[in-house]
Amino acid sequence: MCGIVCYVGSKPAKPILLEGLKQLEYRGYDSSGLAIHDGTHIECHREVGKIAELERKLNNMDIKGSIGIAHTRWATHGEPTEENAHPHRDQDGNVFVIHNGIIENYHSLKKRLEKEGITFRSETDTEVLAHLIGLNFDGSLSEAVRKTMSQVIGTFGIAVIHRQSPGEIVVARRGSPLIIGVSEDGHFAASDVAAMVRYTNKVVHLQDNELATLTVKDFSMSTAQAKPIERSAETVEWRAEDADLNGFPHFMLKEIYEQPETIKNAMRGRLETGEGVPKLGGIMPVWDKLKDSRHMVIVACGTSYYAGCVGRYVFEKLTEIDVEVELASEFRYRKLNFAPNTFVIAISQSGETADTLAAIREAKRKGAGLLGIVNVVGSSISRDTDAGVYNHAGPEIGVASTKIFTSQLTVLNLLAILLGRHQKLSLTEGVEAIRALEALPDQVANVLSQANHIQAIAEKYYKCDNWLYLGRKYNYPIAMEGALKLKEVSYIHAEGYPAGEMKHGPIALINPDMPTVAIAPRDEIYEKMLSNIQEVKSRRGPVIAIATQGDERIREVADDVIEIPQTLSFLNPILAVVPCQLLSYYCASFLNRDIDKPRNLAKSVTVE
Ligand code: M6R
Repeated sequence: MCGIVCYVGSKPAKPILLEGLKQLEYRGYDSSGLAIHDGTHIECHREVGKIAELERKLNNMDIKGSIGIAHTRWATHGEPTEENAHPHRDQDGNVFVIHNGIIENYHSLKKRLEKEGITFRSETDTEVLAHLIGLNFDGSLSEAVRKTMSQVIGTFGIAVIHRQSPGEIVVARRGSPLIIGVSEDGHFAASDVAAMVRYTNKVVHLQDNELATLTVKDFSMSTAQAKPIERSAETVEWRAEDADLNGFPHFMLKEIYEQPETIKNAMRGRLETGEGVPKLGGIMPVWDKLKDSRHMVIVACGTSYYAGCVGRYVFEKLTEIDVEVELASEFRYRKLNFAPNTFVIAISQSGETADTLAAIREAKRKGAGLLGIVNVVGSSISRDTDAGVYNHAGPEIGVASTKIFTSQLTVLNLLAILLGRHQKLSLTEGVEAIRALEALPDQVANVLSQANHIQAIAEKYYKCDNWLYLGRKYNYPIAMEGALKLKEVSYIHAEGYPAGEMKHGPIALINPDMPTVAIAPRDEIYEKMLSNIQEVKSRRGPVIAIATQGDERIREVADDVIEIPQTLSFLNPILAVVPCQLLSYYCASFLNRDIDKPRNLAKSVTVE
């Protein structure tokens, strides 16, 4: 959730680290700091608030040195104060550490260190790492870090510099992502490719219980047990311009508008229209078992979970597979008992969500096969699953997930059509589904062309404090996702409900100040949705309907209508979510919210 960026090279470290921190700001952002080694001294500065605050503080400071570590923090232990911001130092001010993750035994370690005469300056778990590394240092920073790794329990991605080791940065990982960047004039380490993509796209992924020493010329890796590791660099797809706004006021809006392209990218090279069969090379390692599987469990969190909820209906329609969907945070603590040949599918944008990772590790222990639907190539979930499908959607910078959601839905459809063709779908049905998928990018563009209309609807209702989202079947998860999106970026309270449940409680809330967004495309349960809309109207609740183009009946009852093009009913969610995203965006914009960095949220939730 916090962000790490480090640089050792031939250029001044300060601007590179500040730039890297800005790229990471979306991960977590209540305070930040950096420490730079000039060959003799280490200068450390920290500040509460956004990176701009730290930048302001450092503006007129001439900080020499081309080796440094920097961190943006999302508080877990201790409030967001300057004392609690990273880097943390040891007693003598020799060691400087930045840390993502949680040291679970920090309390007992802290007590022990205090008894030994160490004075703590912060309330963080991270500070124990600095003191331990300081005490363990005997001339070799990597050995001090290695010894410290054996003393701590919990998760970490850390980067460390030592006053007496001027030419190197040591990084280590257990459970929190860390990537090494290799460039012509030095080396980087970061928790996320975004921090270094301006300088290099050659990366090496550090795995759990590994550490690395970076110098200007070289880097070396080893295990916590000191076994050397040779791993060559991979080239990542991300481009520097992915991290730019390109004229959009916010990344969220830019990413909403990228959806015609990202949906296309999820399908690129994967469609054999004539055969009505998608090609998914990434699942071939498990294909023999997968094609005969009749039980699947989808695990995910947040927006990815809602993608999984849509996926369940799609699998039900197109395959013979029984699918359950579980929130990873609940699934990981259940007593698991899988039917033979069950596959667990983890869906995750970041590939690093702690609960989802823990859920698949538990599923593996209990004998399930594992698939991943992941955007970040080389991420922990992509490595810990037996096989999978990448989204290829490029970086999503806005904290609120938009383009990855529609990409996840696209990939789930590809997987369901592929399995369905081996189980029950005819050639004609397969071809029809693929043709409908191929039409989606233009249809999404059509929805986007109504942005002004959607903005006007947002202007009409953004002052309402409570919203209800209703949907049925495929679009019930879209109601939940629409409500989540509104909460996340505008801080308006919203509830997503299956429309059939409205009469069992939420109807009590309906009043003229509570808009209902009714997702009601022309599909098999359209008439039922229409009845629910009537029920809201009878109680004088305003209704914003998301309906199929040309639906005149709905215009007679709804106050406002946003049209989506006609498609197959199981593909409606991909179109229907786009107006929900835009409504949330424009409400947040009218309310002057910090849209790309909503309060209290982080892009990648790497703690439980
Ligand atoms: O990286 P993941 O897809 O695993 O993340 C899961 C959730 O944390 C994420 O979808 C979250 O709900 C977003 N803020 C949604 O906009």
